[in-house]
Amino acid sequence: MNPAEGVIHPAWLRLTHWINVVAVVLMVMSGWRIFNAAPIWGFSIPAGITLGGWLGGALQWHFAAMWLLAINGLVYLVLNLGSGRFSTKFLPISPRKLWADFRAALSGHLDHDNLREYNAVQRAAYLFIVLDLIVLVLSGLVLWKSVQFPNLRELMGGYEGARRVHFIAMALLVAFVVVHLAMVALVPRTLLLMIRGR
Ligand code: HEM
Repeated sequence: MNPAEGVIHPAWLRLTHWINVVAVVLMVMSGWRIFNAAPIWGFSIPAGITLGGWLGGALQWHFAAMWLLAINGLVYLVLNLGSGRFSTKFLPISPRKLWADFRAALSGHLDHDNLREYNAVQRAAYLFIVLDLIVLVLSGLVLWKSVQFPNLRELMGGYEGARRVHFIAMALLVAFVVVHLAMVALVPRTLLLMIRGR
């Protein structure tokens, strides 16, 4: 038997997924500490769930983990798009199918018999988070090298606008992770699959 038979998530996908988890946790927690140094909204993040201890320390974590996030994300995108996996796994997606699967999910009737195929809700959620991460990286680029990316900066409403875009994209990412973890808890077989690949 071909040893590749039965593999649903190839090794590169599992590796980039779990590296991304580490990078995202480091980025979000250090980002919260950076936010606390100059909050743009009327609240701060509880210090106990932030990383870095102080602004300088948090920036070092953020700058270190951003390479992990960006390079790992690029590897995922290149392999996913290059292998054709992206279009077979995430497309097609239609509003009608999305609505039907969403309603089925809410009423507990979405079947998970075929783990090879993502349902429309999963497709939409994964496409959304890939786009959201791209927005996070681009707005992060503006905050890091504002002078070097004037067009991108103006597109985001200037430096202050980019801070807001960056924060809102982070909040959407955290919301995705909460829902994502709840879904994995509901169908734990998928976790085994993301670890073992089959
Ligand atoms: C401890 C945290 C996490 C766990 C346990 C987890 C678990 C999983 C599992 C089990 C799957 C496969 C779902 C399936 O087969 O139906 C999956 C897929 C995915 N996860 Fe996560 N995940 C975590 C964090 C994250 C984070 C932080 C992100 C991004 C911000 C993320 C993005 C994705 C994406 C995009 C996919 C689809 C990948 C593809 O097929 O190309 N996950 N995750």
